[in-house]
Amino acid sequence: MKLGSSQTSILLSFVFLIFVTLCHSWPLSTSNRWIVDDKTGSRLKLTCVNWPGHVHVMIPEGLQKKPLNQIAANITSMGFNCVRLTYAIYMLTRPDEYGNLTVAQSLEQWNLNNATRDMKIYNPEMLDLKLIDAQKAVVDALHKENIMVVLDNHVSLPQWCCSFDDGNGFFGDKYFHPEEWVQGLTTVAQHYKGHPAVIGMSMRNEIRGPRENEEDWYKHMKEGAEAIHGANPDLLVLVSGLSYDTNLSFVKEKPLDVDLGNKLVYEAHWYSFGDSDDDWKNQPNVMCNTVTDKFQNLSGGFIISGEKPYPLFLSEFGADQGFQNEKDNKYITCLMAYVADKDLDWALWTLQGSYLVREGQIDTDETYGMFDSDWQNLRNPDMQVRLQLIKQTIQDPHSKVPEYNILYHPLSGQCIQVGGGGKLFVSYCNYSTRWSYIGDGGGNGSPIGLFGTSYCLNAVGEGLPVRLSNDCKSERSLWKPVSGSNLHFAAKDGRGKTLCLDWDPDSSSNSTVYTQQCLCMDDDLNDVPNCGDNPQKQWFKLVKSNMK
Ligand SMILES: *[C@@H]1O[C@H](CO)[C@@H](O)[C@H](O)[C@H]1NC(C)=O
Ligand SMILES: *[C@@H]1O[C@H](CO)[C@@H](O)[C@H](O)[C@H]1NC(C)=O
Ligand SMILES: *[C@@H]1O[C@H](CO)[C@@H](O)[C@H](O)[C@H]1NC(C)=O
Ligand SMILES: *[C@@H]1O[C@H](CO)[C@@H](O)[C@H](O)[C@H]1NC(C)=O
Ligand SMILES: *[C@@H]1O[C@H](CO)[C@@H](O)[C@H](O)[C@H]1NC(C)=O
Repeated sequence: MKLGSSQTSILLSFVFLIFVTLCHSWPLSTSNRWIVDDKTGSRLKLTCVNWPGHVHVMIPEGLQKKPLNQIAANITSMGFNCVRLTYAIYMLTRPDEYGNLTVAQSLEQWNLNNATRDMKIYNPEMLDLKLIDAQKAVVDALHKENIMVVLDNHVSLPQWCCSFDDGNGFFGDKYFHPEEWVQGLTTVAQHYKGHPAVIGMSMRNEIRGPRENEEDWYKHMKEGAEAIHGANPDLLVLVSGLSYDTNLSFVKEKPLDVDLGNKLVYEAHWYSFGDSDDDWKNQPNVMCNTVTDKFQNLSGGFIISGEKPYPLFLSEFGADQGFQNEKDNKYITCLMAYVADKDLDWALWTLQGSYLVREGQIDTDETYGMFDSDWQNLRNPDMQVRLQLIKQTIQDPHSKVPEYNILYHPLSGQCIQVGGGGKLFVSYCNYSTRWSYIGDGGGNGSPIGLFGTSYCLNAVGEGLPVRLSNDCKSERSLWKPVSGSNLHFAAKDGRGKTLCLDWDPDSSSNSTVYTQQCLCMDDDLNDVPNCGDNPQKQWFKLVKSNMK
C-alpha cells in the first residue's frame, strides 16, 4: 500500500500530537481483563515495541548507531508508550563470565571493533559500564522519556532466539536450569524495585522444544511468578504458554494456581511463520478465519473473557516492513482487525534496524524493524499509519460514553468517516464518526447507521459510491458480514445484486468508498478457492468503542 506523502505526514503529525501529551502511572495492576493504574483504577493500555538486549553481546541493540537519548525520544515520537526490553538470565546469575563484563569487554570478546569505534562516537559513556549497568542506563533513559518498560527474560545463555532444540527452550534443557532462572528473575525484580519505569516482567520468552510439558510448566511458572512477586510486589507478572507462546489452551480447564494480588497478566505471540503461503494466496478469507480462531482458542484470546478474565499482552507480532511479502501482508491486516476489535495490549516486533551480531553475522539487518539498518529513518512510514488505531485506547472500562462502533479498514489502518454534506471519506480514526450496528440480523443484515441520526449507509450499485441516506429499511441498507473471514460487509443494490463495501487505498480516487463485486466469493457468498484476487481492500471491521 502506498499513501501520498502529504497524507502520510498529516496522519503522522496527528499521531505525534496525541502521544506527547500522555504520561503514565506507576505501579500498574489488573482489573478484570484490563491493565490499570493501581491508584485510580483507570485503564492504561500498553502499546510497546520490542528492543532486544539478550543476543550474544547482551547490549541493547543500536547504541553503536545513535545516542541513547535520541533512540528513546524516537520511540516516543513513533507513538509507543512502552518497551519490552529483553535480557539473558546468565547476565544476572553468572557475573564473572557475563554481567560484570564491561560493554567494551563484551564487544571485544566478539571482535566487534567497528562497533566499539562507533560506540565511542555515539555513546562513549556506555563503554565502561558493566553490562548489567548498561541495561539500567537504558531503562533510565526510557524513563526520562516517560516510556514504560517490561523486562523480558528471553533466554538463559545469551544468543539469538528461538530454535526448537537450542538448549534454551524448556526447564531442564542444557542451558535452562530452573533454579538458576528463578534466581535470575529474583535478582532482576530486586534490582528494579521502586524504579518507576519498570512496570512488569515477562517470565520467559517462547517456551518450546522436545521436552515441553504441562506439568513442569505449572510447577515452574508458579515458582517464577511467586519469586518475582515476593521480591517486587509492584510488578505485573507476565506468564506465557507453550509452543513458542502460542498454546495457553490448557489454562482454560486448569488455571495457574498463584495468588499475585492483581498482578497476573498472560502473554501470547502471533506470527505468520507456520502458515502456508499458498493458503494465504488461494483462500485468504478462510485463512484469516483459521488463524484468528487459533489465536482465540489456542494461543490465549479466550483469556480476556469468561468467568475469570485476565489481561492478555500480545507481546510479539510483526511483519516484514517492506510489505513485499504477500503472506505477511494478509496476516498483519487480519491480525489488526482482531487486535483493534479486542483492544489488546501489545508489543510490536520490533524496534531495531540491525543487530550487533546475530547467528554469526555482524551488523545484520532486521526487516521487521521500525528503524532502517542505520537507525536513522523509519524503515517504512506507512507502518505508523497502519498502527495508528491500535495505538489508541479504544475501550475504557470506566467511560460513561454509550458504546458505538467505528468502521475500521485494517489494510490502510484508517476509518470511514462522514464529512460535510454527508460525504464519506477514509481518514485517521479519531472517534468523530460513530456508527450503530446490531449485527447480521439473523442472516438478513441490518443497517449501519450514523449513530444518533436516522441516516444509514446505502449500496447504490456496482462501482458506485456508497451513500448516506434516510433509507434504513430497504435491502440497500441491510449489511451483513460475509466470507470466511467475516470481514466483508455485503448488501443488495436495489436490483437484487449483492455487493461489498470497498475502499482501495491505491486507486486514484481514493477518497471515495464504493460497493463492488464481493471478491473471492460466488453469488451465494460462499468462498471461492484460488480466486486470484486480493480481497483485503474489502476487509472492514465494526470496532466497538466508548471513547469521548
Ligand atoms: C560483580 O560486580 C558487583 C558490583 O557491581 C560486585 O558486587 C560483585 O562482587 C562482582 N562479582 C564478580 C564475580 O566479579
Ligand atoms: C569496519 O569498518 C571499515 C571502515 O568503515 C570497513 O571497511 C570494514 O569492512 C568494517 N569491518 C567489518 C567487519 O564490518
Ligand atoms: C497445547 O498444550 C497442551 C498441553 O501440553 C497439549 O495437550 C495440546 O495438545 C497442545 N495443543 C496444540 C494444538 O499443540
Ligand atoms: C474455536 O472455538 C469455537 C467456539 O468454541 C469453535 O466454534 C471453533 O471451531 C474453534 N476453532 C478451533 C480452531 O479450534
Ligand atoms: C530521532 O530523533 C532525532 C533527534 O531528535 C531526529 O533528528 C530524528 O528525525 C528522529 N528519527 C526518527 C525516525 O524519529
